Amino acid sequence: MILLGVNIDHVATLRNARGGADPDPLLAAQLALLGGASSITVHLREDRRHIRDRDVELMKEKLGAPLNLEMSIDYEIAEFALRIAPDQATLVPERREEVTTEAGIDVIRNLKRIAPISEKLREKGIRAVLFVDPDPAQLHACLKTSSRAVELHTGAYARAVNEPERRKELDRLVKAALFCAENGLALHAGHGLSYHNLFGILSLPGLREVNIGHAIVARALFTGLERAVREMRELLDLAATHEFIERRRSFTEEGARKER
Ligand code: PXP
Repeated sequence: MILLGVNIDHVATLRNARGGADPDPLLAAQLALLGGASSITVHLREDRRHIRDRDVELMKEKLGAPLNLEMSIDYEIAEFALRIAPDQATLVPERREEVTTEAGIDVIRNLKRIAPISEKLREKGIRAVLFVDPDPAQLHACLKTSSRAVELHTGAYARAVNEPERRKELDRLVKAALFCAENGLALHAGHGLSYHNLFGILSLPGLREVNIGHAIVARALFTGLERAVREMRELLDLAATHEFIERRRSFTEEGARKER
């Protein structure tokens, strides 16, 4: 079964717009779990523009489900993560001007910061995941850290405007997925995934987890959050069907033939 991490940052954005307590991110997280989320993802940004320290503390204390903290490699944030000890920490790049996480983290350039942080997380029993672009050089660099999981940035695939472009981006993701499988890296994927573009991603060999926020919270305005999560969960479950397993196999074999 592919795990579904639901990112509820946008609920906190809406709460902060009026400075009060509603809508409550903790309640949103509980409804997402009722709808079939496997874990809850929150991004504690350095500028605290949506999720705040107290939100993360409450989630850790009250949720009773796996918590995935998206975090930059800033020292203050790393210390916070080590204190709170979420089940999983996904290391992401962060720029204050960006609207959302635009690219994967540059593991090559930041190896001296990333390696000790992922080691400290590991020692604390926190699963460290590196959010990277599907780029072979970046994936090789991941092997120089103690992290044994990556989340592939699916933004370029999600933004593709035509079929050849979408296929090209999917090919990059499949090659990256095969690299992960060959090198013992657990495979997660996320960013820009929606009810419409999820299918291609389901064909990634070895996919363990997807993290989805915007599409689910946007649909929740019309259907309610629990149902929006359930509908995404149902799409993921199609990946376990016979047709999908066959399709994934032929896709991978076709990719391998092209490589030769
Ligand atoms: N994964 C990571 C590492 C992210 O930074 C984000 C955005 O916060 C997501 C997944 C979810 O992206 P989206 O909101 O586009 O589904």
